[in-house]
Amino acid sequence: MRHMIDPLDFSVQEVENVLDLADSIAADPSRYREVCRYKKLATLFYEPSTRTRLSFEAAMLNLGGSVLGFSSADSSSASKGESIADTIRVISCYADICAIRHPKEGAPLRASMYSRIPVINAGDGGHQHPTQTLTDLLTIRRRLGRLQDFTIGLCGDLKFGRTVHSLIKSLSRYSGIRFILISPEELRVPDYVIREVLDANAIPYEEVTSLEDVMPQLDILYMTRVQKERFFNEEDYVRLKDTYILTEDKMKLAKEKMAVLHPLPRVNEITLPVDNDPRAAYFEQVQNGVYVRMALIMTLLGLADGGKETK
Ligand code: NCD
Repeated sequence: MRHMIDPLDFSVQEVENVLDLADSIAADPSRYREVCRYKKLATLFYEPSTRTRLSFEAAMLNLGGSVLGFSSADSSSASKGESIADTIRVISCYADICAIRHPKEGAPLRASMYSRIPVINAGDGGHQHPTQTLTDLLTIRRRLGRLQDFTIGLCGDLKFGRTVHSLIKSLSRYSGIRFILISPEELRVPDYVIREVLDANAIPYEEVTSLEDVMPQLDILYMTRVQKERFFNEEDYVRLKDTYILTEDKMKLAKEKMAVLHPLPRVNEITLPVDNDPRAAYFEQVQNGVYVRMALIMTLLGLADGGKETK
């Protein structure tokens, strides 16, 4: 049985298969509407979410399956003190696959050790968020036509941003990628990511504080929100939250074909007029997230051949 806990749980080839399947689904979603009939997805969300939970649920419903679950720790038995190990043993009796979001790093991994059904990490604390990464990869591949030989700027909260950690890890397996890490001193990429991923694989990167200075070099700009909920004190958050604001003026410095990604939710870091720039790819990313989650659910349930033409 397979799980998706870490972005490297799937090989490069397996990731490519998921992205190819997502492309086929996008081309003709109606072919897939019965693939997961009678299958159930449980969404166990111990932390707030709009996009990710609803995206998983929409994905399963689009495949003809059904969904059950909870959307906050307060409304689950966690509030009575139940361990994640017990919860997943129970959920294994109710559903065929589950997606877990948890504030504690490593909680989905722990759940997978006790689970009888595939577990998908839908975000664990400030650690990893592998399905957002699949969404990002699909969006980059569709925009640039490739997953190699480009310069990506990651901007904002690179310390607590789990989407950033997963994306760096995943992109480190493709050739010719150069990272420009744009953040305030306090929100730099954690040392373990620099050491274990970038340095260990001899991947070129720079750490800078100015977005404007590097803008002309970028093929992809990945903007992120400052992760308010992970700060120890409000003062630091208030001081750092508006460090980077992407405006139409700054977009003038960028390449004509650059793509702007953002995992959303957006707070102030991208101004509204930028939404009308054809380089803004973040709402397209949301749609891609549904296709890629459909592809992942099918793959983990061993149904990746479903939807193929039978004639
Ligand atoms: C991200 C997350 O939850 O880490 N959101 C998402 O899943 N689309 C990014 C964020 O919350 O800033």
